[in-house]
Amino acid sequence: MQIFYSATTTLFVLLHLFSHLILISAECSSSCKENSANDVNRTNLSDGNSLEEAVIDAILKQSKINSRVELRHFEIPKITKNMLKNISSVIISIDFQSNKITEIENGSFDEMSKKLEKIDLMENCLRKITKHIFSDDFSELQEINLSFNAINSIEAGSFDRFIKLSSIDLSNNCVKHLHSNLFRQNDALREVHLQHNEITKIEFHVLALKAELNIFDLSYNNLDFIPQFKTKNIQHLNVSHNKLIRFDLNYEFSHKAHLEALDASHNNISACAKGIRKDIVRLDLSYNQIIDLSEFPVLLNLELLQISNNKNLSDLWLEKFDERFSNLRILNISETSIQCNEFKYLRKAFPSISISTESNFVTECRNFSSYDDHFITKIINSKHDEILMQLKLNRSLLITLLSILTVFVSIPIVFLLRNHCFSIKHSKTESLIEQIEL
Ligand SMILES: *[C@@H]1O[C@H](CO)[C@@H](O)[C@H](O)[C@H]1NC(C)=O
Ligand SMILES: *[C@@H]1O[C@H](CO)[C@@H](O)[C@H](O)[C@H]1NC(C)=O
Ligand SMILES: *[C@@H]1O[C@H](CO)[C@@H](O)[C@H](O)[C@H]1NC(C)=O
Ligand SMILES: *[C@@H]1O[C@H](CO)[C@@H](O)[C@H](O)[C@H]1NC(C)=O
Ligand SMILES: *[C@@H]1O[C@H](CO)[C@@H](O)[C@H](O)[C@H]1NC(C)=O
Ligand SMILES: *[C@@H]1O[C@H](CO)[C@@H](O)[C@H](O)[C@H]1NC(C)=O
Ligand SMILES: *[C@@H]1O[C@H](CO)[C@@H](O)[C@H](O)[C@H]1NC(C)=O
Ligand SMILES: *[C@@H]1O[C@H](CO)[C@@H](O)[C@H](O)[C@H]1NC(C)=O
Ligand SMILES: *[C@@H]1O[C@H](CO)[C@@H](O)[C@H](O)[C@H]1NC(C)=O
Ligand SMILES: *[C@@H]1O[C@H](CO)[C@@H](O)[C@H](O)[C@H]1NC(C)=O
Repeated sequence: MQIFYSATTTLFVLLHLFSHLILISAECSSSCKENSANDVNRTNLSDGNSLEEAVIDAILKQSKINSRVELRHFEIPKITKNMLKNISSVIISIDFQSNKITEIENGSFDEMSKKLEKIDLMENCLRKITKHIFSDDFSELQEINLSFNAINSIEAGSFDRFIKLSSIDLSNNCVKHLHSNLFRQNDALREVHLQHNEITKIEFHVLALKAELNIFDLSYNNLDFIPQFKTKNIQHLNVSHNKLIRFDLNYEFSHKAHLEALDASHNNISACAKGIRKDIVRLDLSYNQIIDLSEFPVLLNLELLQISNNKNLSDLWLEKFDERFSNLRILNISETSIQCNEFKYLRKAFPSISISTESNFVTECRNFSSYDDHFITKIINSKHDEILMQLKLNRSLLITLLSILTVFVSIPIVFLLRNHCFSIKHSKTESLIEQIEL
């Protein structure tokens, strides 16, 4: 009985594991299956000629000087070097969208490397990108679209030959890991799309030091940290819809990218890590689990803070609010647990900040009692008094310091002057004596 029981359990566990594995792999190649299923218009290239010849024919028909070749919705399962051999330096873009490509022969595109500006390979069934696929220098290539494949591995160095690469779309694949040096040679890179993958790991030095990115989209992945990149500039970093639990910008790097907008919304952030940053101007932390801002980093340049839909957020930590958010212009606290008194206090004390809340919240706060109003005014006034006191204190302190300094500086000066005069007199008499001797 016991043996039977454990045997069935083992079997059950095995079955469970197996189905889990199937589920994972199915999830990842689903885009690939979907594409082929939905495609009613596929031309059957296997009829008549050999596949390769058919593709060559189709390409030749379209290729004139500086032309763009489009081979969408065929049944092409593989790109071979032969297919693209005879169109060498004529075309500037080639589009293989929605085929069934699972493999690209080494160096297939190399014959076109001096002229090609754009390669489209989206909606295929590619699984691996290796550094041998694009092995010549592509001196003009600016865009490559590899989205909606089933790519789960990208070898470091795969894009090293794209000297002018500006935009790469790897979204909607199964990428788990970004190797170091992946885009290290791509100085001109402006857009990286990696949304809808399964990324958990990002190694150091992914980007070129000189790159200035417009957008780095890492939304819909499995990241549990906010990656920092060592490059010049990133305008928008998008890590929304990941698995972040901590708002931490301190991830070590001596020269982090200058970051302008950060979208970390739709995560599970409940903790924040202190720190200071001067770069971030727009920050989206909506749809998280933040409860208070006590540990929030000081963001000196922050103008827009979206913190709506943190349902349990009840404390904005208003002490030193103006110092911590000295440049804030818009604050979105709708769908939070912020209370009327805090809201009213914000409105009175910081009239330059426009606060966005639900409209019913504002009406609810309207019949907030006059006693509370009085209380808030008192806080603000006492705060003003405090500042004035501080200023007065500072002034008297400054005066005292200055007088002490004057005394201390004047003593040696007088002494020096005296000495100097004496030495002049002394040297004068000396020279006089010399002259007399002469
Ligand atoms: C599919 O084929 C029909 C008829 O041949 C054509 O009108 C339509 O434009 C095609 N659709 C696509 C997406 O190629
Ligand atoms: C394409 O043609 C080949 C050969 O005629 C045939 O075996 C195959 O089923 C066709 N495929 C489709 C999708 O029609
Ligand atoms: C490519 O062109 C060469 C000559 O220009 C020709 O001999 C060869 O057959 C062509 N190859 C294909 C696959 O069309
Ligand atoms: C591509 O080239 C690499 C290195 O030369 C080799 O290991 C690999 O087998 C090649 N792949 C194919 C499909 O020929
Ligand atoms: C890449 O192709 C996909 C699918 O056609 C498209 O939605 C996306 O906008 C393209 N990416 C870029 C950067 O143009
Ligand atoms: C980040 O990604 C989400 C989902 O793709 C999108 O809605 C949002 O606009 C993006 N944010 C930025 C700043 O690009
Ligand atoms: C969010 O984080 C908390 C711990 O901080 C954890 O208990 C919870 O399961 C997480 N929720 C999700 C959806 O990951
Ligand atoms: C948020 O508040 C609700 C109701 O007060 C409570 O049930 C829930 O546990 C709180 N969630 C967190 C993450 O503190
Ligand atoms: C504030 O957040 C809410 C809910 O996320 C959104 O509907 C609204 O547009 C936001 N307001 C501003 C000014 O961004
Ligand atoms: C505001 O006043 C109305 C009517 O005087 C009352 O019904 C409502 O409960 C009050 N709301 C709050 C939040 O006190």
